[in-house]
Amino acid sequence: MDSLDLVSPYLFRYKNMNFLLKEKLRAKDIDALLDFEIRPTDIFLITYPKSGTIWMQQILAEIIGAVKPDWLEDVTNRTQIPMLEGGVLGDPFRPRPDPRVFRSHLYPDMLPHGVKNKQVKVVYVWRNPKDVLVSMYHFARSFVLLETPESFADFFQQFLDGDVLGGSWFDHVKKGHEAQTYLDIHFVQYENMLKDLRQEVVELCAFLGADLTDEVIDRVVEKSTFKNMKTDPKGNYKDLSETHIYKEPTMRKGVAGDWKNHFTVAQNERFDKVFKEKMSSFPLTCTWEVKE
Ligand code: A3P
Repeated sequence: MDSLDLVSPYLFRYKNMNFLLKEKLRAKDIDALLDFEIRPTDIFLITYPKSGTIWMQQILAEIIGAVKPDWLEDVTNRTQIPMLEGGVLGDPFRPRPDPRVFRSHLYPDMLPHGVKNKQVKVVYVWRNPKDVLVSMYHFARSFVLLETPESFADFFQQFLDGDVLGGSWFDHVKKGHEAQTYLDIHFVQYENMLKDLRQEVVELCAFLGADLTDEVIDRVVEKSTFKNMKTDPKGNYKDLSETHIYKEPTMRKGVAGDWKNHFTVAQNERFDKVFKEKMSSFPLTCTWEVKE
């Protein structure tokens, strides 16, 4: 039996990342993923939780389905694009047509060896951490495998300490950026998708080598708007709400700047101070708000 480094009654820490205790995944399974067999056509979607993972799953599924119509199975995009770490959120070992797409919240350096040395394409979506914190706070109240926070203030502190699902946002995003030395990685900022989804889809298609007509790109964009995904059972994880794994809809607000409705002035000042300390050498700029 593994000895577990407990972060809380719901999370254990391994390699500085936090995992759900109620899932079956343990240290040996995480290590075994390093040898996960990779195909050259595989695509990996990497995110820190609550950064727009499902949104990008929907976009990738629509792009690949447009290039290769028989790729689309009659399943949710959660099943079609399974979580590498497995668990209730998907089975990576299920046979699926090429190109296989996996999603993962692992730090980039924990990914299978075959993903490294720029052998397959990696899409990394990141979002401003204040909105990630808020989204994750609501998610922790919704997802039955996570501890319901005592209060927003408690959760705020846990997030800054990296004691939440996914570990430290600061480490994840820094490692993501550094990973361009060994991954063939395309960065997408959540807020840029809010500002101009079409442009982001065009750039993503160029990275993936997907040659789509303007009309097809328009369709991908249309299928991936918040409004459409909210009612699309393939993309909105409704089945998890129906089975009571999620108590709230995962398509919550889908905006940039909701943290302003949650942070006190003091919390915001504290966040900015920690952000400055931890991200001083980070070259990318966060977008803290997008006006609707
Ligand atoms: P909010 O909780 O702030 O609304 P993840 O998929 O990584 O768990 O991220 C979930 C967040 O992405 C949620 O944020 C969700 O609403 C948002 N999201 C999902 N699809 C979206 C879309 N089409 N447009 C904008 N935001 C979207």
